[in-house]
Parts: sequence; structure tokens; C-alpha cells
Amino acid sequence: MNGEKEINVWFEAGLLPTSRHPLNVKVERAEGPFIYGKGKRYVDLISGIAVNIIGHRHPYVIKAVKEQLDRYDHVMVYGDFVLDIQMAYARALTDLLPSSLNTVFFTNSGSEAIDGAIKLARRYTGKAKVIAFKNAYHGSTYGAWTLASHSDITQGMEPLLPEVYHAEFNNIESVKRLIDEHVACVIVEPVQGEAGVVPAKPEFLKELRGLCRDVGALLIFDEVQTAFGRTGSLFAFENYGVIPDVLVLAKALGGGFPLGAFISSKEIMGSLLDPPFGHITTYGGHPISCAAGKATLEVLIEDKIVSEKIPRLENIIKEVFSEELGEVEGVSFTVVGIMGAIHLPEKEITDTVIRRVINEHQIIVDWFLFAETGIRIYPPAIIDEGLLAHSLKTIAGVIKSEINKR
Ligand SMILES: Cc1ncc(COP(=O)(O)O)c(C=O)c1O
Repeated sequence: MNGEKEINVWFEAGLLPTSRHPLNVKVERAEGPFIYGKGKRYVDLISGIAVNIIGHRHPYVIKAVKEQLDRYDHVMVYGDFVLDIQMAYARALTDLLPSSLNTVFFTNSGSEAIDGAIKLARRYTGKAKVIAFKNAYHGSTYGAWTLASHSDITQGMEPLLPEVYHAEFNNIESVKRLIDEHVACVIVEPVQGEAGVVPAKPEFLKELRGLCRDVGALLIFDEVQTAFGRTGSLFAFENYGVIPDVLVLAKALGGGFPLGAFISSKEIMGSLLDPPFGHITTYGGHPISCAAGKATLEVLIEDKIVSEKIPRLENIIKEVFSEELGEVEGVSFTVVGIMGAIHLPEKEITDTVIRRVINEHQIIVDWFLFAETGIRIYPPAIIDEGLLAHSLKTIAGVIKSEINKR
């Protein structure tokens, strides 16, 4: 509630918070679906914003990280030395992807991977125009930042990357008005996360695929939030049956450690070698991050988390929301896999509910960047089903009590 007081805590420590409303949960440790701090145990329903898909400090991941740490950590900038862990992780990923997505470039972050993908598209096609979508969020480096359509966040930072155009999400006519033979790429999230969990319509993505093919533009899917089971399949594009030319991953890709990637065909990726050094990174593909990410992927598959657990959690979220909130006036929700949003009628109510849920009930939920009345629900997939249902009912109770006060 008192944003100024919360922000001052940061300044007093010599840190800059750029968040509008830092949650200020003081973290002492984290384990599984829980975060512990100030003698309290919080249930984490945001997973570090779609990062900790198998919770915090999963023993299998910790073991893989320790084993890697005992062998080597950073030894050379990306792409010179042969690092078995990078090779193994790239192979594990490409084995799970269509054959056209067979070549991986590991980066530090999602933003860096998006910038790499834009550079790749321009280099490969020899064209400049980039089409992104309103309300998308693709990251914070200059290229990725330019893709944001919200002039309040980019304000005062112009000139941004030239030749970037914004179409309406889920509106193919708006794309048709912009797309032509000068377009290098179209970048889209299969489910827009920061817009408050807005899924693409299947027809929209299919038509985008066709339009890109017609004009020779690359179709780039930003699956930074949606991959690794978050939307119910390992990758969201599988839900749609649409294969992008370039797939961008990050967040859960690193199993809790910094890692991003852009993935395409050997032919397309080869353009970054012609001439060489098309993208360079020191820490991209860090061995510890690759070890953690590969271990996370193994847990997701071998423990049947994607195939069995996530569908059960999705049903619980849908059931609880329908039962508890279905009839509440002005309240709506969207759930895709374990990526959920509750939308309330007013921003003030949303702010109050989020604060109360965290402070009174020790359940961590969050805002979205571009959906001010939305509440983010991104639980880790290892959460106990009873705990999830109980936490969601608690949130619904707070929502109803605040709505009834109106
Ligand atoms: C969809 C999407 N793309 C890209 C990014 C940028 O990733 P990073 O913060 O790792 O740079 C984010 C971050 O939230 C994101 O949600």
C-alpha cells in the first residue's frame, strides 16, 4: 500500500528498485514451493515469474549443480571451448524439438536471446522491418525494449531500434496491414504473459505462419514464459501445431540459474557465422546454468510432471476459480496450463488483494507489467495439489471480501 516506504528500504540499502511496487518479502531461504523469511513461510505462487518450474532447490538440480561446480565453472567465452554440459543440454533440447529447430545459441537472459533473434532475422533475410504486438513484453535490452508498445516505459530513451512496428495481438488484419516483403521477422508470444495471460487464438498463429512464409519473414516465438510445461505442453507451440522459424527460451530454461537461448535451423543460424561473430556473449551458456537447466528438464519429463502433474494442477486451478469466482461480478480469469491470471474490476482492489494475500496469508502472488487489474498465478509444478487448492481458495476469499466492501 505504501509504495514510497517500500521503495525507501531499497534506497537505504544502496539499491535501485525499478518496480512500481516491490513486494519486499525478506528472503532467508527457499525450498520446494516455499519461501522462508522473517520467521514466516510463504507459499510461492509465482515461481520467480515462470522460472522455478520445479520449485526451489530441487535435490536433483542441486546435485547436478554441485557435480558441475566440482568439475568447472566459467572457462571461456561462449563458442570457443568444447563444453560437454552445453553440448548435452543443446542435444537434450533439440531431441525434443522439431527437426527444423536443431541449432541452439545459449545466452545469459531472455532479453539477450530476443536481441540475438532479431539480429539473426535481419542478417538471414537481409531485411530490416520487425513486427511485434501491442502489450507484448520481450525484455529490457534495447532491441527487446523497442518491441514493447508501452511508451511510458520506453519514454525518454528514444531513439529506439528503427523499423519496429506494432500490430494488434489476435488481429490478423492488423498484421496484413503491416507485413510486406521488407519484413525480417514477426515476434510473438503464444500466450502473452505480461498482458495478463492472453492466449493467441489458434487461427491467428496459423495465419501468421502462412503470412511469414508468403513474404519470406521469419516467425519468432518468444516462449520465455510459456515453455517447460508452464502452458501444459513442454513448449506452447505444441498446443497450436505451429512451428516457428526461431524459438526463444529463458527463465525455466536455466533451472533457477541465468540462461537464455535462441534456436533455429542450422541453415538460418549459420548466417551468424557469415561473417563470424554475429552474436557474442561471455557468460551465455554458463556451465552451471546448463547443468541446472538440463537437470530440470529431466525432472519435468522423467517424473511425468509435464505429462501428468501439470494437467492435474491446471484442473484444480480451473475448478477452484470457477467454483469460488465464477459468479463474482466483475471478476474473470484465464488459465492456460499453470499460467493463470485473475482479473478484478478495479486497480485499487487488485493492489489491496495482492498486499493482503501476501502479508496476511503468506501466499506470494504478483502484478503483471501491462494488466493493472490482473493477479498473477504461476505456481511451481511440484506444488502439492491440496496446498494449491487451499491457497487459491484463500485468495478467492480475500477477493470476495474486498469486492463486498465496494
Ligand atoms: C515473454 C518474455 N520475453 C522475454 C523476457 C526477458 O527475459 P529476461 O528478463 O531473462 O531478459 C521476459 C521477461 O520477463 C518475458 O516475460
